[in-house]
Amino acid sequence: MRQTIEGGKTLLVDGPACISLYSGALRAFGAPIKVGDHIIIRRGRRIPLEALEDSEIELLLGNSASYSLIDEDPIPASWKEAAGKIVRVGGCVKVAVLGNVDSGKTSFCTYLANVALGAGRNVALIDGDLGQSDVGPPGTLGLSFVRKPLVDPFNLQPSSIVFVGITSPSSVIEPTINGLVELVSRALVAGSDFIVVNTDGWVEGLDAVNYKLRLIKSLQPNFVVAIQDKDELKPLVDLLTGLGISIVNIETPRNIKRRDRETRKLIRESSYRRFLRDAKVRSYPLSWVKVDGCLGIRGKQDQILRKRMDEVLGDRVVYCESCQDSIILVLREGATLSDEERAKILAELNKPLRIIHRGDEKGLLVALEDEKGCFLGIGTINCVDFERGTIKIYTNVDGPISRIRVGQIRLDERGNEIEVVGGLGMFFR
Ligand SMILES: Nc1ncnc2c1ncn2[C@@H]1O[C@H](COP(=O)(O)OP(=O)(O)O)[C@@H](O)[C@H]1O
Ligand SMILES: [Mg+2]
Repeated sequence: MRQTIEGGKTLLVDGPACISLYSGALRAFGAPIKVGDHIIIRRGRRIPLEALEDSEIELLLGNSASYSLIDEDPIPASWKEAAGKIVRVGGCVKVAVLGNVDSGKTSFCTYLANVALGAGRNVALIDGDLGQSDVGPPGTLGLSFVRKPLVDPFNLQPSSIVFVGITSPSSVIEPTINGLVELVSRALVAGSDFIVVNTDGWVEGLDAVNYKLRLIKSLQPNFVVAIQDKDELKPLVDLLTGLGISIVNIETPRNIKRRDRETRKLIRESSYRRFLRDAKVRSYPLSWVKVDGCLGIRGKQDQILRKRMDEVLGDRVVYCESCQDSIILVLREGATLSDEERAKILAELNKPLRIIHRGDEKGLLVALEDEKGCFLGIGTINCVDFERGTIKIYTNVDGPISRIRVGQIRLDERGNEIEVVGGLGMFFR
């Protein structure tokens, strides 16, 4: 569909949609869009296209997409002032962006990156939002270098990814903070002098405030940008101000598009699918790769223990391994132990017993890493073949791997989220 946008007006497009510019000139979050450019607008995302002059576009709308024309500048004055102030500072600048879910964090990071790029800075974007990640798949932290103006960081090529394995930060505060500190240092090593760190939207409540405080203390940014509508960041901002950190307060744009839980889930699922494109099931011998995280297993059956388990439990036993701090006992699907049987086994063990059922591992999201610990891609566990000592992973990583990190998100075969698992199996001691 052809659409004309009068100079000075803004077209708000809600994806999934695709636009091509035929004539005129547009701008989105500070990124110029030139004649001939094509812009993909993801589902769940709204892009404000400012017409710098009378412009003509071809607009392709997907299912549930929509658009509207508004007569106002979509970029709030506070955003422009904030970006101007931060970019004026010379030397190496680190900025952390804080805000609630759907407050405009990703969009402000995009806008700030574009302004800094325009000022000739060497810009790195670090994505610290595990749930609504922009750079890597959900459950990961990402680093990307911004070499040209961007409309949506989703289109950036990730340079480095740290796998955390869950989409909410509350149980993984330490790994998230460490991961972000590591990505900042990688950006510095690569020569970036303008580092923008986006964060997750968990900002309310004591635990969230403490976490963000720790994060900011660890990152040591020159500026913290606080995006808020009302006063939702006040407790955090007050504490940060007390620490002498430079806070830049900005507002949430009037035309922001809020997403419900279901839409956020759909966005995550399309991201898993994107990072699993062209995947197939690959088999890795457990003796070649280190498997850790939610499921730590070496694939070396303890024969003496196995014999004893067989004596007590018969054909319910699939596998038995003695790990550093527990004994893993894998049972057939649906098999149970009576209290007496369990007590009998426990009395003979000098470590806690971890009981897993065959198939419990199916669908868990994993990260595959090379021998240097670099992230190669994600996958999902198809199965562990305990008899053969192999693990089958659905992934598009095709080179050699050294480590499989098992996360806590379970996906089905189509990449839909089924559940988050606390840990695999049950511990008895
Ligand atoms: N100034 C704006 N005008 C119109 N839509 C906007 C504007 N800023 C952000 N949006 C849209 O609102 C939605 C939420 O913003 P986003 O930056 O993704 O928030 P967050 O990262 O805090 O969840 C996105 O679809 C985004 O493109
Ligand atoms: Mg975001």
